[in-house]
Amino acid sequence: MGESSPFRKRLIRWLEDNRGFIILVFCLPASFLFDTCLQLRNWFRRTFLSAPEKHDERVRDIQRRIRRWGDQPKDKRKPMCTSRPNWLSLSTTFFQKDQCEKIPVDLYNILSLDEERQVVRVEPMVSVGDITRYLIPRGYTLAVTLEIADATCGGLGLGVGMTTYSHRVGFYQEAVESWDVLLGDGSLVHATKDNEHSDLYYALPWSHGSLGLLVAMELKIIPVKPYLKLKYIPVHGQKAYCDMMRDLSGALDKTAKLPDYLEATVFSKDEAVVMVGNFTDVTDPKEKAKINHVASWYKPWFYKHVETFLQKGEDYEYIPLREYLLRHNRAIFWVVESMIPFGNNPIFRLLFGWLLPPKPAFLKFTTTPGVRAMTFAKQVFQDIVLPMTVLEKSVDRAEQLFDTYPILIYPCRIYDHGPAMGQLRPPRKDQMCPGTNYGMFYDLGVYGVPGPVKRRERYDPVHAMRSMEK
Ligand SMILES: Cc1cc2nc3c(=O)[nH]c(=O)nc-3n(C[C@H](O)[C@H](O)[C@H](O)COP(=O)(O)OP(=O)(O)OC[C@H]3O[C@@H](n4cnc5c(N)ncnc54)[C@H](O)[C@@H]3O)c2cc1C
Ligand SMILES: *[C@@H]1O[C@H](CO)[C@@H](O)[C@H](O)[C@H]1NC(C)=O
Repeated sequence: MGESSPFRKRLIRWLEDNRGFIILVFCLPASFLFDTCLQLRNWFRRTFLSAPEKHDERVRDIQRRIRRWGDQPKDKRKPMCTSRPNWLSLSTTFFQKDQCEKIPVDLYNILSLDEERQVVRVEPMVSVGDITRYLIPRGYTLAVTLEIADATCGGLGLGVGMTTYSHRVGFYQEAVESWDVLLGDGSLVHATKDNEHSDLYYALPWSHGSLGLLVAMELKIIPVKPYLKLKYIPVHGQKAYCDMMRDLSGALDKTAKLPDYLEATVFSKDEAVVMVGNFTDVTDPKEKAKINHVASWYKPWFYKHVETFLQKGEDYEYIPLREYLLRHNRAIFWVVESMIPFGNNPIFRLLFGWLLPPKPAFLKFTTTPGVRAMTFAKQVFQDIVLPMTVLEKSVDRAEQLFDTYPILIYPCRIYDHGPAMGQLRPPRKDQMCPGTNYGMFYDLGVYGVPGPVKRRERYDPVHAMRSMEK
């Protein structure tokens, strides 16, 4: 059937109009089963195959594979890559792995916890879900983590990672103490800030595996308490919420007392809810009534809950720490709403809420290139990091180009490590926080279906994205 066949057009329109129902009946149960199998496999691996003491042996195995690759004649060698299938990783890119020499990097173990130095040593495939499950009962969490349980410690290091704690510590890579990497000749290198491999230490973040295979890393941890006291501050007026974010993040004054977690959800150009959270214990029985298990399947989606404070006014709650860290998991921020428009209905949540979220791995595994072309061009899923000075302007531009709310904002330090130290240019002089070696930037998260697409108007997503980048 041709591109423009009326039948095909009607079918696509029908599928779009009824996507919530189709996703509920076919996609969610399949995604759930798929994920249950993956979780079972992970559980099995954690429970029966865990062997931190055999780390060196596993590394030697990988080393042998690399050397065998290197022994081939030069013109026979295909580029190397990890054998982790594309659909398992969170990145939305699809890389042709079958044209490469695939090296299994089956490294899933948490290796050791050093409470004195406050670092945990892990293998790269340990996930955010695994590490928070391990650390929180011991009174710690990663200094920089991610809100998505399936992200891996290694992927975040070699890709990108930032979070709502980053106004205190910067990007994920700032919390990496050391990297263990196998280079192309099979040699094992331990890179730290100060040893002879410090050039590699700074070059690895954002290298996406192009410099070597990561086999272990040490990550900084921070002591925590079981709950987060989260204050919701509704703010009216764009300048008011932008000023508040600059102020609370310490962008203006290095001596400002910083909250532990800081983010804002912008619901329209002039309305936002700023959230500040601090670690705390909850012992007072009266205060216990204010505990909210936001991650439970029957609870309203987190951003919908946040939105209610625009009407209710300022208030606070206590959220169990792990639930706070995974607060955006169930609705994938606010992406699920465009898939299942009735997903936040209380009855739906009660009956089917536990099926959420549809798993990125499942969606990637089952999506054909045709469907991908049809759907990916109709959504925006972008995190854009900009200096705090342009906060107002960036919200305005995002509205012009994408016309979709909510928008996520959270601040992040970017350190100046000197010229040519890594892949990231240091902040300009006028972007630096006075008297420090960092500038205050922020993540602008624009996720969802652009307004023109919703209204079925003409829309050029590539043009919009290029304009935003400019
Ligand atoms: C729903 C969603 C929400 C997100 N939210 C955020 C957010 O809030 N903040 C944020 O910072 N990011 C966010 N991201 C992006 C995410 O951090 C990146 O996709 C990151 O790459 C983590 O994904 P991963 O662990 O699957 O790594 P992968 O994508 O698998 O890996 C990243 C890169 O590192 C390479 N690599 C991985 N392991 C090794 C190894 N052992 N040796 C050599 N190379 C390796 C991979 O080949 C790839 O090029 C989000 C992504 C999604 C899908
Ligand atoms: C968190 O701590 C900061 C700094 O000490 C303080 O200014 C802020 O009011 C606290 N917020 C909450 C919700 O307790």
